[in-house]
Amino acid sequence: MRRETQAAWLGLGAAGLVAAIGIGVTQTVVAAKTGSVCNTPTTLFCDSLVKPPPEWKGKLFKLSQDYPSTLPKETLPWSGIDPAWEPDKYAFAVLDYFYEGSIRQEAEQSFQTDLNTVRKWYHAPWLDAGANGREPLQGLTRERSSRKGELGPEQKQLWNNWAVGFYNAPGGIALGKIWADHGKPNVSASAMPEGTAAAKLLFTTANETEVPFLKGSPVWRAYVYEDVHLDRHSIDDKRAILPLRLLQIDFAVKDLKHSPTTGWVFGTFVYGGGKVGSQSGWRNVAPVGLMWGNDPNYSGSGELREMRINPYVTLVHYGYQRRLNGPVDNPKSSCMSCHGTAELPQSALLPADGATPEEIARFFVNVPSGKPFTPGAASADYSLQVSMGIMAFNEAQVAKQQPVDKRTQFLKHLEERDEIPARDGGNFQ
Ligand code: HEC
Repeated sequence: MRRETQAAWLGLGAAGLVAAIGIGVTQTVVAAKTGSVCNTPTTLFCDSLVKPPPEWKGKLFKLSQDYPSTLPKETLPWSGIDPAWEPDKYAFAVLDYFYEGSIRQEAEQSFQTDLNTVRKWYHAPWLDAGANGREPLQGLTRERSSRKGELGPEQKQLWNNWAVGFYNAPGGIALGKIWADHGKPNVSASAMPEGTAAAKLLFTTANETEVPFLKGSPVWRAYVYEDVHLDRHSIDDKRAILPLRLLQIDFAVKDLKHSPTTGWVFGTFVYGGGKVGSQSGWRNVAPVGLMWGNDPNYSGSGELREMRINPYVTLVHYGYQRRLNGPVDNPKSSCMSCHGTAELPQSALLPADGATPEEIARFFVNVPSGKPFTPGAASADYSLQVSMGIMAFNEAQVAKQQPVDKRTQFLKHLEERDEIPARDGGNFQ
């Protein structure tokens, strides 16, 4: 494994690895991109560990990490809307809140947190490590790939997908508490306050020929793996600056008033409603649905009660037994099934292949807010960005403490594991 590869696995820049191996006395970490020190107990978190290509003269991703300590005074626009009765209205209230101050004329200038004068949004740290870590232009992490046919009948090949997530100020407060000590994250601070909103933009490398409903979709360039048809990628794979199109928008809001058991309402939008139309731009998205529970005892037929699915949207697949999921998501899961597993140590996100009906059912319980999925684990309150970030941090510490031969073995193991993005399953042993 190359030295830079090892460094990226540790969530460190190349110089950081030299230090970590023990050549230097300090554990200085240098981000590949800027040359500035980051991801150490006494510095900022890194933006990205991937060096942009020399020809790139445009802007680079900046991790919004100036986490707040006090709640802003604002009325949350969805607080008076019942998701069961007015799911569309609820979903659009969250979307409008996420969009306000974020949309600019230039698609690539949109969602730059430093340009938003209405409200601040924050990014979760430590999602930079490894083969699926943040790329340097927009901070995108690699998601599950869309297999042939999953996005529509004309889709003939597999295409890679990439995404970036944001938290509003209440969520930012929690991130700030969890990561108050940059050298020692505190998972017991991960209860997200009421009013937390997280949103995620998912972009695809798929083109309009194979996925016609992407017509008019905002385009971001990003420095991603060049072979967009390969499902498994290792960190040394060749990258290129490619155009990606907006495909899906996910959100999760902490709303104990409307979701007293799980504490959360999850929802998702698909570009163009999954149909070719004449509209374009950021607003041309339609809600796929909302959920506030997993319908634990659902038999597989009849009505799902703890979610609403929009009948006017066209999707090739949903989640398990037609529970809510987005077009990019794994059909064996659902938003809240996967996110309900957010805990430390992080257990598998999905039922294993060949799981028995009992094992599958375990993934569709309603995990109460603040309770772990696995007895004895620590809850990360449905935030997989929190659990994944802390997991990456912990693995870097383990790797650093090992003698060189053992470390190489450990990093090789992580490398093989991460060829499958987290969202696609994989187990975290
Ligand atoms: C099989 C697993 C899986 C499924 C299904 C899934 N997600 Fe996630 N999601 C993840 C992982 C892993 C992350 C964190 C890593 C990242 O952001 O790349 C994440 C991150 C997010 C985030 C950012 C904040 C956070 O909680 O971590 C939001 C919001 C989100 N997902 C919403 C949704 C919604 C809405 C759905 C359903 C439409 C969904 N997710 C389905 C795995 C999943």
